[in-house]
Amino acid sequence: MKKKTIRDIDVRGKRVLLRVDYNVQVEDGQVVDDVRLRESLPTIRALRDAGACIIICSHQGRPRGVDPNLRNAPIGRHLTQLLGVAVKNVEECIGPEVEAAAKALKPGELLMLENLRFHAEEEENDEEFSKALARLADIYVNDAFGTAHRAHASTVGVTQHLPAVAGLLLEREVDYLTRVTDNPDRPFGIVLGGSKVSDKIAILENLTRCADVICIGGAIANTFLKARGIDVADSLVENDGLAGARYIMALAEHRGGIEIVLPSDVVVAFGGAAAGQVRTVSVAQVPVNWRILDVGPGTVQAFADALAPMHTVVWNGPLGLFEREPFDRGSIAMARILSELHATTVVGGGETVAALNRAGVADRVSHVSTGGGASLAMLQGKSLPAVDALLDV
Ligand code: 3PG
Repeated sequence: MKKKTIRDIDVRGKRVLLRVDYNVQVEDGQVVDDVRLRESLPTIRALRDAGACIIICSHQGRPRGVDPNLRNAPIGRHLTQLLGVAVKNVEECIGPEVEAAAKALKPGELLMLENLRFHAEEEENDEEFSKALARLADIYVNDAFGTAHRAHASTVGVTQHLPAVAGLLLEREVDYLTRVTDNPDRPFGIVLGGSKVSDKIAILENLTRCADVICIGGAIANTFLKARGIDVADSLVENDGLAGARYIMALAEHRGGIEIVLPSDVVVAFGGAAAGQVRTVSVAQVPVNWRILDVGPGTVQAFADALAPMHTVVWNGPLGLFEREPFDRGSIAMARILSELHATTVVGGGETVAALNRAGVADRVSHVSTGGGASLAMLQGKSLPAVDALLDV
């Protein structure tokens, strides 16, 4: 990454405003999934070891004003447990009391600010709000990869008023995703699923430059199948995406040597996911009124065969209706296949990462991204405003 990081600055005795993405699910005061917290620990530990006073800030959810269910205090308590060091808490993120609490910190001490989005000015990238945040610290560190596609006060505005560098998680995320988007070690395979064709068309348009194999599952595959003239009966199809799907298939043919693998067999249900009747059929035989909800075992095997020779593979989006059993099986099988490849493997997107966890293989892929929208933006070839705003090397 061509941006300065915490390795390039001296933070001894300085107050550091650390922007993290702790936008995690909290239920009954307990953090449900703490991956984003654990992934931020190396940066926090490095800053503590270097003698910084650390002021942590994050948004949580999409509140309109103060929402007691979206306070950052439970996240601070969980962080205290993970670090084994007390994380102090304030019920505001700007203002004289917060400034006093920040000033009182000694090297190595931590303070967690209140949810940034309790102020509408955060998302408006408001100049005064950015300045108020900047008044808390001497240096700004951004480790919030998951929010790097947002140009908000705490991700972009504040960088106008403090020296701004990247944390270690942000650096690792950008490095891995740049490696797959800019210059992947080929042959390069892509596995795409999920339901929003428009998002995925933009990824395919960007990555067909260097892809050798493209495996498509999930609801987006229905649109591709229909574009190939296959009757997918009651399955979810984005009719607006048909032209895009045809364009990608034509582009792959035009660029030559790109293999697009679409489902050959599928798991179908009568009347939707809640109905009891489920079958596995060839894509040519989806019965009238039935709906495709997952890829079949033949398709999973075809994906595995196509990906076996790859040196780099990126996967984004589940291959079926992952949240509902038994339609999670294709994604879980895909997770296992990925974990066994001798390749650099990069996975992004909430449900895709959940599939890795359900298969118990999250530690056997090269990189699991903590960013849904941010990783999608990078795969689409877009630059991230919060990264652009940091100091150049
Ligand atoms: C995320 O979870 O994708 C990030 O925290 C960004 O959240 P947002 O989509 O509410 O901006």
